[in-house]
Amino acid sequence: MKIAVLPGDGIGPEIVAEAVKVLEALNLGLEMQTAPVGGAGYEAEGHPLPPATLKLAQEADAILFGAVGDWKYDTLDRPLRPEQAILGLRKALGLFANFRPAICYKELTHASSLKPELVAGLDILIIRELTGDIYFGQPRGRRSAPDGHFPGAEEAFDTMRYTRPEIERIAHVAFQAAQKRSKRVTSVDKANVLETFQLWKDVVTEVGKQYPDVALDHMYVDNAAMQLVKEPKRFDVVVTGNMFGDILSDEASMLTGSIGMLPSASLNDRKQGLYEPSHGSAPDIAGKGIANPLATILSAAMMLRFSLNQEAAAQRIEAAVQKVLAKGLRTADIYSEGTTKVSTREMGDAVVRALAEV
Ligand code: NAI
Ligand code: MG
Repeated sequence: MKIAVLPGDGIGPEIVAEAVKVLEALNLGLEMQTAPVGGAGYEAEGHPLPPATLKLAQEADAILFGAVGDWKYDTLDRPLRPEQAILGLRKALGLFANFRPAICYKELTHASSLKPELVAGLDILIIRELTGDIYFGQPRGRRSAPDGHFPGAEEAFDTMRYTRPEIERIAHVAFQAAQKRSKRVTSVDKANVLETFQLWKDVVTEVGKQYPDVALDHMYVDNAAMQLVKEPKRFDVVVTGNMFGDILSDEASMLTGSIGMLPSASLNDRKQGLYEPSHGSAPDIAGKGIANPLATILSAAMMLRFSLNQEAAAQRIEAAVQKVLAKGLRTADIYSEGTTKVSTREMGDAVVRALAEV
C-alpha cells in the first residue's frame, strides 16, 4: 500500500504531520513517501506540480494531500499558481467523484450556526462530479457580443456540458454509496431551465432502475440550497454536478460547526484517490500550531476505507476522533467554554492515544 504524502503550503505541513502520525500508529505497513506540491513545489522545483511529484502520485494507491496556496503567489502567472497543482492531479488521475461527508458530531452540535435540533445527528454525504460541467466546457472565452441586448459590447462566455457516460459513472458511484448507507439518493439539478441538467436527470433516473433497493428523488438546486438549511436531515446521499456541488458542499460544511472538521475524497474508477481536508491552506494561522488537524485525520480514515480496503482501521480512527471530542479536547476553531484548548500537535497525540482505547 503506497501512499504519496503531499503536505503543500500554509497549515498543510502541520496538519498532514498529525495524520501521518495517526496512520503510523495503526501499524498497517503503509509505505509513505513525501513530495513538495503547490507553492512548496514552486519553491523547490519551479512548478506547483513538479514532474517527480506527479509521478509519485500516479504510482501511489492513494494521495494524502494537505492544502495549497498563499497570497504571496497571487502575482504569478495562472499556470504557476499553487492551485494548479490540485487541478493537475484531478486531471492526470481522472478523479471524477468527490465525496464530502457532512457529519455533525454530538459534542459539536452547539458549534453549528443552525439550531442544535436541526443538526444533531446530521450525517449526509454530498457527491460532486469533479471533471465536467461549466468549469471545463469548451468553447469559452471573451469576444465582442454578436447579438443580445448590447451587440458589440465586451462579452465573456462559458459552456455547460455533460456527456451521458460522465453522468452514468457518477450516478453509479452515488447509488453504490447509498446502498452502504440509508439507501436514499437525492439528485440535484436545474432540469427546468438547463438542457445539460435535463440529460443529467434522465440518465440518473435510468441508472437508478438498476438499484431498486435505493430510493431516488430529484430536487432543483435552488430548492436544495434552501432545504439544506431548513431541514438538512432529510438528505442522505446527494449527487450533483461540478458547480452545484461546489456551492452546496461548502454550504453543507457550515452545518457541522467548523471547516476544520471536514474531510474529503476524490476518486477515479480504479479506486485510486486523493484525500484532503475540505479547507484551504489557512495562511492566516499557518505556523502558529493552532490549526485543527481532524479534517485531515478523518481524510486519512476515508483513504483507508475507499482506496486501501481497510474498513476496520478507518472505523478505529473515526472512533478515536469521537473519543477525543468526548474528552473535551478542542482546537481553537471548535473551542467553547468548559472545554480544553489544545494545539495541533496535542490534538494529533490525543487521537493516537485514543486509538489504543477503541
Ligand atoms: P481557508 O479554508 O484556507 O481558510 C478559511 C478560514 O478557515 C480561515 O480563517 C482559516 O484560518 C480557517 N481554517 C481553515 N482550515 C482550518 C483548520 N484546519 N483549523 C482551523 N481553522 C481553519 O480558505 P481561504 O482563506 O479562502 O484560502 C486560503 C488559501 O487556501 C488560498 O490560497 C486558497 O486558494 C487556498 N485553498 C486551497 C484549497 C486546496 O488546497 N484544496 C481549497 C481552498 C482554498
Ligand atoms: Mg469550494
